[in-house]
Amino acid sequence: MNILTFRSNEELNEAGAGIITGLVQTNPRAVLGLATGGTPVGIYEEIVKTYRKGMVSFKSVTTFNLDEYVGIPEDHPESYHAYMKHHLFGHVDLSPERTHIPNGNAADLEQECAKYNQHLEDAKQIDLQLLGLGHNGHIGFNEPDHALVSGTHIVKLKDETREANARFFDSIDEVPTHALTMGVGTILKAKMILLVVRGADKAEIVHKALTGPITTECPASLLQTHPHVVVLLDTASGRLLNA
Ligand code: F6R
Repeated sequence: MNILTFRSNEELNEAGAGIITGLVQTNPRAVLGLATGGTPVGIYEEIVKTYRKGMVSFKSVTTFNLDEYVGIPEDHPESYHAYMKHHLFGHVDLSPERTHIPNGNAADLEQECAKYNQHLEDAKQIDLQLLGLGHNGHIGFNEPDHALVSGTHIVKLKDETREANARFFDSIDEVPTHALTMGVGTILKAKMILLVVRGADKAEIVHKALTGPITTECPASLLQTHPHVVVLLDTASGRLLNA
């Protein structure tokens, strides 16, 4: 595991974007696993800047998002479909038919998960999976539990996850109760994982996930078993490492 700590958000964003655009420059047909939430916003901004300078093209890239809420329309500003359009898809030359996000409004959600798994299988392997980290150790929406699911599945969001995400909605009552998420098996199958974490409020979970026991009660701790993980931290979130 290669852990890099940055003094500023700008440096962290540039490093994260550089890793992703560097991969696409060397492998224009790369398969990228993408995350949403507050953490990657600045990285997407830097990627768009690099694209606008004409330094990278995404026209042959395939993407798979980690997750989507169940039951909010795709054009709801807080849906992950809307998020991706707003922060990345609307600004670069990704081909819409090569971008994938689970459909949280499918009539049959089980079938939607099976379809998503099939698309992932057809793509063979994710070259780089971008991840944020939940305060409770979740990756994607794989919440802490006594057992975890390998493939894409429906998940009931924990109260703490809904509380953390309430900042994006008018009130906690509007935060969906369920989501579709890629499973940990799919995440761990990625060739490389890029975990990004910011903020003092994540220092404890960073320490636990990266140095604590490997347990499904902290899904991110499973990343310790992966052969190629790069972790980008700001100084606040990395404060307890080597402390
Ligand atoms: C988002 C996702 C989640 C977030 C995590 C951290 O697609 O899968 O695991 O990465 O909840 O969210 P932020 O970045 O908002 O703190």
